[in-house]
Amino acid sequence: MMDQASGLRDLVAQKSTGNSKFIAIASGKGGVGKTNFAVNFSYLMANEFKKKILLIDADIGMANVHLFLNRKAKKGIKDLFSGEKIDDVITKVYGFDILMGFSGIDDLFDLDDISIQSIINQLNEISNRYDFVIIDTGAGIDEKVSAFLRASNKSYIITTPEPTAMMDAYALMKSIYNIFGYDKFKVIVNMCRSEQEGENTYNKLKVSCKKFLGIEIELLGTLPFTNNLRQSVRAQKLITMEYPKDSYTQNLRKICQQELSLQEPLEENFWKKLFTLMGKS
Ligand SMILES: Nc1ncnc2c1ncn2[C@@H]1O[C@H](COP(=O)(O)OP(=O)(O)OP(=O)(O)O)[C@@H](O)[C@H]1O
Ligand SMILES: [Mg+2]
Repeated sequence: MMDQASGLRDLVAQKSTGNSKFIAIASGKGGVGKTNFAVNFSYLMANEFKKKILLIDADIGMANVHLFLNRKAKKGIKDLFSGEKIDDVITKVYGFDILMGFSGIDDLFDLDDISIQSIINQLNEISNRYDFVIIDTGAGIDEKVSAFLRASNKSYIITTPEPTAMMDAYALMKSIYNIFGYDKFKVIVNMCRSEQEGENTYNKLKVSCKKFLGIEIELLGTLPFTNNLRQSVRAQKLITMEYPKDSYTQNLRKICQQELSLQEPLEENFWKKLFTLMGKS
């Protein structure tokens, strides 16, 4: 009787949350605010919009999500390779879950097919528990960043108004579109000195994408430059928790609402796709 009841509960739980959406966050240029966006977006989605969120640190060279959340670096995905169970490699923090450390992902490819399939199954199962899986990638445009983007339903491309950041954001979209035909980009302009500066930045990118690539990109929102964010980072706290009325937090709230208003098809098999794109499945 107990078993039946818990089996049913599992089934219901799976049904109500089996619609996770994968969002990859990338930029081209480093230091434009991806990780701060990722942790604060996760916090608001989880705490104000009551969504189940898994944040994955997929910055392979320089995993640092845990630092912004004032947590110790703990187990990561590679511990799955040595038989660790998925629930033990997830850390709970401020109402959402994080999966740290994709470093060592290359070792995955030394495993046999059955072990890889078992890891994919575990990752599928865990992802199904969430409404959104947010993937914070590293700077640059290597094949791993590109695989995370291509396996995701959509990618948020973060830029700032600086020409170098815009150029790298454009280069990232260009290379992934030209090589793979992937065009599910939504742009966020961070560190804006005014709303107008944010819109001008987006418009320039949009015109280049239309003219030279023939693709339409959307603006998801702009985020202001604010000293409160720097302050929060130094104190290893989140701006969204410390300064709920700061314009960064308010604009981020609008981005969450915008995301939640969208009706888009769901990614069926992110992990299988990711590992195939990375060279093994
Ligand atoms: N809106 C903002 N206003 C002021 N400072 C900001 C803003 N967004 C980010 N920063 C600052 O920019 C720096 C880099 O931020 P973050 O680490 O989030 O960037 P990143 O794109 O993840 O970097 P990397 O490419 O190294 O992963 C941090 O010191 C942060 O304080
Ligand atoms: Mg980062």
